[in-house]
Amino acid sequence: MPAIVILGAQWGDEGKGKATDQLGRAIDYCVRTSGGNNAGHTVVVNGEKFDTHLLPTGVLTPGCTPVIANGVVVDLAALFSEIDRFASRGVDVSRLVVSANAHVITPYHTALDKVTERFLGKNMIGTTGRGIGPTYADKIGRSGIRVADLFDEGILRQKVEAALDLKNQILVKVYNRRAIEPDQVVEELLSFADRLRPLVADTSLLLNRALDEGKTVLFEGAQATMLDVDHGTYPFVTSSSPVAGGVCTGAGIGPNRIDRVIGVIKAYTTRVGAGPFPTELLDEDGDRLRTIGGEFGVTTGRPRRCGWYDAVVARYTARVNGLTEFCLTKLDVLGDWERIPVCVGYEVDGVRHDEMPMTQSEFHHATPVYEFLDGWNEDISGCRGFEDLPKNAQRYVRALEEMSGAPFWAIGVGPGREQTIVLREG
Ligand code: GDP
Ligand code: IMO
Ligand code: MG
Repeated sequence: MPAIVILGAQWGDEGKGKATDQLGRAIDYCVRTSGGNNAGHTVVVNGEKFDTHLLPTGVLTPGCTPVIANGVVVDLAALFSEIDRFASRGVDVSRLVVSANAHVITPYHTALDKVTERFLGKNMIGTTGRGIGPTYADKIGRSGIRVADLFDEGILRQKVEAALDLKNQILVKVYNRRAIEPDQVVEELLSFADRLRPLVADTSLLLNRALDEGKTVLFEGAQATMLDVDHGTYPFVTSSSPVAGGVCTGAGIGPNRIDRVIGVIKAYTTRVGAGPFPTELLDEDGDRLRTIGGEFGVTTGRPRRCGWYDAVVARYTARVNGLTEFCLTKLDVLGDWERIPVCVGYEVDGVRHDEMPMTQSEFHHATPVYEFLDGWNEDISGCRGFEDLPKNAQRYVRALEEMSGAPFWAIGVGPGREQTIVLREG
């Protein structure tokens, strides 16, 4: 089974890390293709919790090669501290490969991310403050720093000076901050060069050769479809392309290489940061979902906004990504409700919509149309087969599958590796 894409089907934190780990035992390469350390993926192995931010989750699978491909933006200090953190827990990180073309997050990107957010005030995006937006902006604006630049001091200095020429004007004159010294940035980046060099490779070549040899490559999504810069709730999005299409540009592989595209989706919905969220619950149900589901960010610790399952989002995600299947997660969290609302459509200014409205203004005005499904009021975290689930939980899953636009591959009933019901073997 050569190339599998796992991606977020909602607004992030769907359980991509756990799904990756689930398939991880049968894969040769695990590849991050977009985003940076704004991601936070959690895996629980034998009761022990691991969280990855930049390292592909496959690092936890012995024999699997983790790859940070060209589409990722890399904060080198964060990368090496994560490597050290994993190594100190006995994880073998020696196979890690990093693309020479991945862009580097510098201290001025992080500074700009934070001041821009502050400047936006109540219109802020609610970013993770990791410098993601400014780094991708420089990439597209052709003034970014890439991993390979760290191995040519002259070029690196030239690029950093050119970037800071303009950015210091902005920092000082617009945001009233202190200018950043180019020498300081160059020195900091160069301090990582020796440690980085042995990890760097042409990852597009590496991955294409692996696929030619019939190896199994898993592309581990970060962020999610509704946070995609093109297809998400713009401008309340991240600055990369977490959709399936982004895997091709982010890794340098052709679309015809991809065999499976799995959308990870929670049995309800969460979102961190600002932006529209039609099924959001600002009442006690929202608090209960947050508490029972442990909905607090892995990266920033922020409480996640919580709401019911949104089948319009699911259908949209299935379409935009060409999903071959869904992985439904956190079904166990819903064991506490008599009746569970599920959003089957929207009403926008008096008009019914079964598909995602065309414009963001319409989406901002969308109110959910709910269908109510019976709850099961039972702890299902010990179930291992579909037939073990209470009948109402089975009906809930089948109803969601029917309205979501792609078949369900697996169901999560707890954070543990073993707490998964696989409906069909891939
Ligand atoms: P990711 O960013 O998509 O990898 O997701 P996160 O790791 O940020 O958030 C998902 C959280 O839910 C983590 O704490 C996981 O351990 C946990 N989790 C994943 N699947 C399940 C599940 O089926 N049930 C429960 N209760 N927790 C889960
Ligand atoms: P994983 O991979 C949830 C959100 C931020 C903010 C917006 C832009 O764990 O699912 P950014 O720092 O990327 O410029 O912030 O995107 N965001 C995420 N939300 N999960 C994530 O990653 C996210 N990565 C970014 O909260 O609203
Ligand atoms: Mg996360």
